[in-house]
Amino acid sequence: MAEFKTISPEEADFNVFESIGKNWMLITAEKDGKANTMTASWGGFGVLWSTDVACCFVRESRFTKEFMDSSGRFSLSFPNGEKYRKQLAYLGRVSGRYCDKIAASGLTLAYDDGVPFFAESDFAVICEKTGRFFLEPEGILDKKALAGHYPEGDFHYLYIGKIIKILKKQ
Ligand SMILES: Cc1cc2nc3c(=O)[nH]c(=O)nc-3n(C[C@H](O)[C@H](O)[C@H](O)COP(=O)(O)O)c2cc1C
Repeated sequence: MAEFKTISPEEADFNVFESIGKNWMLITAEKDGKANTMTASWGGFGVLWSTDVACCFVRESRFTKEFMDSSGRFSLSFPNGEKYRKQLAYLGRVSGRYCDKIAASGLTLAYDDGVPFFAESDFAVICEKTGRFFLEPEGILDKKALAGHYPEGDFHYLYIGKIIKILKKQ
């Protein structure tokens, strides 16, 4: 895609805390030829099993979880948080289970080698799914976090993605 160039993780110049926690990202995957996405503000980048990885956390109830489970690859998209705040908030409020929320958001799906991401991204991370872990309540040692974030259960699954490429808007 001409608009984007591929950079290595070493060349990435974004701040993880700013980009995920404050800007927010879109977790996107495909199932049966259709894409779904959801906004996320929890996740990270790092090194695991001797490769560069990205991770994100998806609650059991999210429609996106079905797409993450059915696909071997997914993307994390980072549209500018100020410019696209309304769209990011919408995609984090409405479920794709009930409507075509991607179309309604006005954002544009793009594909990199069959992996859906968003054309409005400043950068997007294309991942191969290499791990999935249920965050069981027994493992959440911060009891304030357990009580505060899971009053109704609906625990997260942690998805690990080997970074295939990082697309940066030119
Ligand atoms: C700022 C923000 C951050 C969010 N972060 C997460 C997250 O990290 N994990 C998660 O499971 N849901 C998160 N959500 C909620 C989902 O985006 C939301 O439930 C969404 O509607 C799910 O869509 P889906 O059912 O189409 O998958 C967040 C929502 C917002 C607005």
